[in-house]
Amino acid sequence: MDFAEWTAQWITFDHEQNNRSPEASPMFRKTFEAGANLLSARIYATALGIYELELNGERLNENKFLPGWTSYHKRLQTQTFNVTGLIQKGRNAIGITLADGWYKGRIGGHPNNFYGDQRAALLELYLVYEDGRQEIVITDDSWRCETGPIIMASIYDGETYDARLEKDGWSRSSYADHDWLPVSILDHSKQMLIPQENVPTRVMRELKPAGLLRTPTGEDILDFGQNMVGWVSFSLTAPEGTIIELAHAEVLDRDGNFYTDNLRSAKQTTRYVCRGSVNEYYEPRFSFQGFRYVKVTGYPGDMSLEAFTAHVIYSALDETGTFECSDELVNKLQSNIVWGQRGNFLDVPTDCPQRDERLGYTGDAQVFIRTAAFNMDVAAFFTKWLRDLKADQLPNGGVSNTVPDTLPGWDLHSAAGWGDAAVICPWTLYLCYGDKRLLEEQYGSMRSWVEFIRSLGEQEFLWNSGFQFGDWLALDAPAGSYAGATPKDFIATAFYAHSTDLLVRAAQVLGYVDDVARYTELRNRVIEHFNLEFVSKNGRLVSPTQTAHVLALSFGLVEDNVRARVEQSLIQLLEQSDHKLTTGFLGTPYLCSTLTDIGRTDLAYKLALSREFPSWLYSVEQGATTIWEHWDGQNADGSFWSADMNSFNHYAFGAIGDWFYRVVSGIDTDAESSGYKHTVIRPRPGEGLHYARASFQSMYGEILSLWRIEDGKMTIQITLPPNTTGTVFLPNTCQEEVTEGGDRLIEADGIRQVTAQEKDVRLELDSGSYQFQYAWRL
Ligand code: BGC
Repeated sequence: MDFAEWTAQWITFDHEQNNRSPEASPMFRKTFEAGANLLSARIYATALGIYELELNGERLNENKFLPGWTSYHKRLQTQTFNVTGLIQKGRNAIGITLADGWYKGRIGGHPNNFYGDQRAALLELYLVYEDGRQEIVITDDSWRCETGPIIMASIYDGETYDARLEKDGWSRSSYADHDWLPVSILDHSKQMLIPQENVPTRVMRELKPAGLLRTPTGEDILDFGQNMVGWVSFSLTAPEGTIIELAHAEVLDRDGNFYTDNLRSAKQTTRYVCRGSVNEYYEPRFSFQGFRYVKVTGYPGDMSLEAFTAHVIYSALDETGTFECSDELVNKLQSNIVWGQRGNFLDVPTDCPQRDERLGYTGDAQVFIRTAAFNMDVAAFFTKWLRDLKADQLPNGGVSNTVPDTLPGWDLHSAAGWGDAAVICPWTLYLCYGDKRLLEEQYGSMRSWVEFIRSLGEQEFLWNSGFQFGDWLALDAPAGSYAGATPKDFIATAFYAHSTDLLVRAAQVLGYVDDVARYTELRNRVIEHFNLEFVSKNGRLVSPTQTAHVLALSFGLVEDNVRARVEQSLIQLLEQSDHKLTTGFLGTPYLCSTLTDIGRTDLAYKLALSREFPSWLYSVEQGATTIWEHWDGQNADGSFWSADMNSFNHYAFGAIGDWFYRVVSGIDTDAESSGYKHTVIRPRPGEGLHYARASFQSMYGEILSLWRIEDGKMTIQITLPPNTTGTVFLPNTCQEEVTEGGDRLIEADGIRQVTAQEKDVRLELDSGSYQFQYAWRL
């Protein structure tokens, strides 16, 4: 429905006037008559806060945390429910429950009431009869309300539920509501209403506890074996008034005790008060927790593991990618990356799901989006988020560091590598899904971002002012700082050039000829000034850090002999550090791919497969089941690097996933023919692996790349889906050596062209499945 079509009124519950706790969740109900011969019944609904509907006693709660999180004052999603089968001839009843959610609860550093101090519901039910008649039921002052068993529900803090206050049958027509209270009408705009854009958030899987621990301090802890996001349900029989409390944590400390310091002020605790019935069941509905361990207190008698279930929630994204190889730790790493994505793709891409943040940090999203788009179909998810980015973009083109913007009015917006999400994310989606519409839609936002940078500072072609996070959490950070050693203006100017470059590419795709010329010129000037400011004539960078070298190379900022020198220096830096990485959020995503680009995939393998600190597999060896925020989140002796900024479910460093798909298995799309219309498959075997397999469900169908080295023989299997073509590189061989399905290459079907390219054979292929074999010599 278009917002102008809404006739319903916002209804709210006046806690003060009704003398109820302001934290308690209000419930609203309304009865109505339905006639015979109903053709269809649809509910359109939304809320300020989060809502759940019931119809004739049935909960319509498959989709969670409705209406989702958007920039609420500008965009508020509405949902449609087909309830034709639930309407009875005669009397019916609808119920709505509201909770604070992101709208009214505390968010980031804000106390409650960030978007508004009133929860409210808006609903229209359309009954359409076979004879074309239509009846409408809307929220208005005829509804009744009361509070019920939900005493408190908060995204960060958990939920308190007193089952003694349940109102049995409250959403049925037969329920006696004479003592319920009148609703209040809230004067609130409807202009920002938009139909649902994102895939819904759902319970996507359920896990049983893997074990029960008694800690040294004597606490009972359920171990679910996996760091995840969602909630825990349980059933029990206990006397009326018994209180069960579940506290949630990601890790145990070095002594094996329950550890919650890293959650900061988020309480993540659910509390249930029993009504005294047989086999009571409870699961929270309006709060989510990030956890692997659950401390249970108050459970009567022996705790049975059977009684507890973890419900894992995230945006219901289709999983599109798989990667596996001959190193089990890497396979665990891939699983950790995917679990990190599950935990943090909860309607918006969040930095973390457990402490008092859970915010849509733009930098984190930007570094991870390419990996995310391999693992899952994130097209709709990011389309919605980018519309919020655009909606929250400042009039001068600046971009908030979190989207939706939870830091408005803060001077500290538009950090390099964070605000650049405005350009990098739409471009990446275009590459992965080949859909020009999003580029078109976001183009104005992309361009204003670049113009914003241009307008900053004293020098048009350098970005050396404004607020910066720098190479966040890099290991070369000076003591007491989260920002790595690479100078912030170096990083900022590098991203300035990069975003301008991607803007040029977007303008090319969209045929904006003038902009292609204008921004090509700008990009060239920025690169020129980058070189004047940060690179000596002989090719020495002002900053001897891995991140500085990686960004200069990866963004194409240095050329010819200067480039050769920078490549050399990067290799020297790695040798000097004994092949240990020092990079943070901004350098790490480009580290291994840059080494591949400069012909040193061997070094990339060394870093990616290293078990020693600092490395990806170090955390795996320490027992990680998701990606850590810090390289040293937990030390080998079980101690923590710090309590303060130490999430164990932060996907940013999981951006290495892109390298496994795109380099080890070699699946990439061609920018000229994006969305995998033309796929380039270039497997790059390396020391430490003898097998790798990646599959990717593209918009055209499944793409497969598998290679295996066995008994001196290389086997490569490739699948290209219908209506696509591919360029495939067979590493380290020549045409005469290779067979396909047992035939010589020149006799095989589907191969259009065979050429030799350096040490590889390059093939132009039609869609289909191929199996290549040749002797493997190093
Ligand atoms: C978040 C990060 C984010 C950063 C930026 C942190 O608190 O968890 O992931 O990008 O702030 O400062």
